[in-house]
Amino acid sequence: MHIYKVGGAVRDRLLGRPVSDIDWLVVGATVEDMLAKGYRPVGADFPVFLHPKTGEEYALARTERKSGRGYGGFTFHASPDVTLEEDLIRRDLTINAMAEDETGTVYDPYHGKDDLDQRLLRHVSPAFAEDPLRVLRVARFAARYAPLGFRVADETLELMRQISASGELQALTAERSWKEIERALMEARPQVFFHVLGACGALHELLPELVDDAQALAALDQAAAHEQPLHVRWACLLHGLALASIKAVNQRLKAPRECQELALLTGECLAQGNQALELPPTALLELLQKFDVYRRPQRFEDFITVCEMVVQADGESSYPQAKYLRGAAAATRAVDVRPLVQAGLTGQALGEALKGERLKAVEAYKRS
Ligand code: CTP
Repeated sequence: MHIYKVGGAVRDRLLGRPVSDIDWLVVGATVEDMLAKGYRPVGADFPVFLHPKTGEEYALARTERKSGRGYGGFTFHASPDVTLEEDLIRRDLTINAMAEDETGTVYDPYHGKDDLDQRLLRHVSPAFAEDPLRVLRVARFAARYAPLGFRVADETLELMRQISASGELQALTAERSWKEIERALMEARPQVFFHVLGACGALHELLPELVDDAQALAALDQAAAHEQPLHVRWACLLHGLALASIKAVNQRLKAPRECQELALLTGECLAQGNQALELPPTALLELLQKFDVYRRPQRFEDFITVCEMVVQADGESSYPQAKYLRGAAAATRAVDVRPLVQAGLTGQALGEALKGERLKAVEAYKRS
C-alpha cells in the first residue's frame, strides 16, 4: 500500500500558500485493508475513509466513469490495481493532479508544475467533462489565483464552453453550485469568477440575470476590496436587479437566509438610502422600521455598507448618507419605551404611541 498527499495540499505547498486541509490517496489497498487498519468508511458506496486519529480523508485510488446525467450518474471502480497515474488523470486540473509521497517526492505525470510556473489553469484530460461542477471550480480557482497571474488555458475555456452549451450545468444541484459561488464570492477577486463564467457561457445558464452587468461586478469588487462578509458581497452583486429577479436568484440557488434577506431589502430600499438626506421624517422612519433597526441594528448597518460600496463603485468617494442614516437609527433607538408602559399602554396602542415618539425623534434629528 502506498499513501500520497494529493490535490490542493500539493498545489498550495508548491505555490507557497498555506495548506488548510490535506487529502490523501491510497494506492494498492482494498476496502478490507483499510478497515483492518481502523479507518472509518465515509459512505457505503464511496471508497473514502477517515483516519482513525487525524480524521483526514483517505481515498482509494479509483477510476470514474460517468453513467448518466447529473451528479448521481457516476460509477466508481476502486481496486488495488488502479495506478497513481490512472487516478490522477480523472482529476480536474493539471495543478490539482500532482501527488507527493512521504519523502517529499512529487509525482507529476500531467505536468502540473509546468502549468503552475506558466500560471495556467488547464484540464488534465477529456474526463474533465464528466463533472460539470468543474466549470465553476475552474472559475473559482481563476478568482483565487488571479492576483498571482493565473488564467484559464484556451483549450480548457473551449471545453467549458462546450459543457455550458450542452445544458449539463442545469443538472447541478443548488447546494453544489452555491458552495462554489459562496467560496468564489469570498476570494480576493470574486469578479474574476463571474468574468470566466461569462466568457464560457456558464453565466447565461446559471445566473442569466447578471450577464453583462458590469455595475454588479464593480460593486462586488468594492465589497471584496473592503473585506466585507458574504451577505454584504451577495447584496452588492444583486443590488441592480429587479425585486422579482433577486427573489428568483435567491430561491434558485438556495442562498442562506442572511444573504437572501439583505439582498432583498437592499433591492427594495437602495433608492431611499441614497435619498436619505431629502426623505421626509415619515419615510425615513418607515425605512428604519422596515429593517427593524431596534432589534436588528447590524442588518441596517450592513445595508448602509452595501449602499456605500455601490456608490464607491460608481466613483464617488464620499457618502454622507451613511452618517446621516446611522444618526437617524441611533435617535430612534434612544426612544425609551418605559414611560409609555408606565402610562398603562399595551398592545396596538403601545405600538402606535412608540411609533409616534420615534417619529418625533426623527423630526428632532432632522432639525438638528
Ligand atoms: N477534484 C476533481 N474534481 C472535482 C472535485 C475535486 O478533480 N469536482 C479533485 C482535484 O484533484 C482536487 C481534489 O479532488 O485537487 C480535492 O478536491 P477539493 O478538496 O474539493 O479541492 P482542492 O483542490 O483541495 O481545493 P481547495 O483549496 O479549494 O479546497
